[in-house]
Amino acid sequence: MKRILLSSADVPERWYNILPDLPAPLEPYLNPRTLEPLQPADLAPLLPQAVIEQEVSSERWIEIPEEVRAIYQMWRPSPLHRADRLEKVLDTPARIYFKYEGASPPGSHKPNTAVAQAYYNKREGVRRLTTETGAGQWGSALSFAGSLFGLEVTVYMVRASYQQKPYRRILMETWGASVLPSPTDTTQAGRDILARDPDSPGSLGIAVAEAVEDALAHEDTRSALGSAMNHVILHQTVIGLEAKTQMEMAGDYPDVVIGCVGGGSNYSGLAYPFMADRLSGARPNVRFVAAEPAACPTLTRGVYAYDFPDSAGLGPVLKMRTVGHGFIPSPIHAGGLRFHGDAPTLCLLQEHGFVEARAFQQNEVFREAVRFARCEGFLPAPESSHALKAVVDEALLAREAGEARVILFGFSGHGHFDMAAYDSFLAGSLEDYELPQEKLDSALAELPTVGVTA
Ligand SMILES: Cc1ncc(COP(=O)(O)O)c(C=O)c1O
Repeated sequence: MKRILLSSADVPERWYNILPDLPAPLEPYLNPRTLEPLQPADLAPLLPQAVIEQEVSSERWIEIPEEVRAIYQMWRPSPLHRADRLEKVLDTPARIYFKYEGASPPGSHKPNTAVAQAYYNKREGVRRLTTETGAGQWGSALSFAGSLFGLEVTVYMVRASYQQKPYRRILMETWGASVLPSPTDTTQAGRDILARDPDSPGSLGIAVAEAVEDALAHEDTRSALGSAMNHVILHQTVIGLEAKTQMEMAGDYPDVVIGCVGGGSNYSGLAYPFMADRLSGARPNVRFVAAEPAACPTLTRGVYAYDFPDSAGLGPVLKMRTVGHGFIPSPIHAGGLRFHGDAPTLCLLQEHGFVEARAFQQNEVFREAVRFARCEGFLPAPESSHALKAVVDEALLAREAGEARVILFGFSGHGHFDMAAYDSFLAGSLEDYELPQEKLDSALAELPTVGVTA
């Protein structure tokens, strides 16, 4: 079967929460001011109550509200494709499947959580949402969700992306959002950065700081985070739950589940329903491979430590793999993979040996993106192309070993707004970035002094 499809009625009715199944308890979040364990109520100025409850819930299954499910049905269930043409090109016995999230209106997996977050905020009387965006995918998704629920949306867009991707900005504005290039001079966090570096290209950490400061300053406003947090990953598990049913229909089960990691939401959303089988012992041999850019190597070169999710130290302090909240990555084209930290649950699973990580350079990633576009047709986002590079490596290893390995990967979004990046690659002017150790060391020197365990 080339394409494995489910019907609207098959959109999952519940999200899967991995918290009760983790191999060890997640370390508590800390209050950014006191560095003492955070109380759920401390999050109230930032997030709606229902979302705070999901963040700390120990329930394995959480019902998807009917209104959210109905909106999911605008594009879900998403298709699962067999990449048999790529298999042939690679001359591999591996069977490669990908879960295509590019068919949503904004073009990625991000609305799976944006719609849920907008729903809960609206239900609790919030008028406006603030958020950060790197590549523009998350900002687009929240703008789309805000337009469906009649919420105002203010997006702080990393300046480098704002300049690289005007069409993403216009898409957000079409859905009614206000988009500001971050750092801005409208928040203290932004002004502090601009005072030090008036030409700052911005970073996701700075944009998060601005969005959080804005939300904290306005009673009728809350912030929406696009990745890393437990509730975001919870909402994204619709990807893996559907994929599990679709793999069953195909008569296969993955030997390896691969995805790209920015803050970890699309990968965890795909992987966790399969991870549940590994953790329960039902599928002890399934492997998990996370792909990231060498320019922002959180899982491969970061430390496992408490750190802020934002450059100004306003958001909850999380135990995660981090390259430091002050880290400003090179302006690579995978804007969505430039977050300095990662989801605490994914990092904990990596610490316990359940997740392997690989880092790649831009050129090797785009080489695979172009090869994929030329045989499978779909044009992957630069972020998703990192997963693709890991997939090809795995498929070639399967060829060497003569094994018909089953590979499932997350195609997190299309790259239709990333043509400038493709253009640079095709013109041979795309640069690779090897992160210098001194730059990493100096960013890591700024970690809050709690629980640094390297
Ligand atoms: C298409 C796409 N894939 C992946 C990511 C990475 O984010 P996450 O790790 O939360 O899935 C992004 C982030 O913007 C994205 O736009």
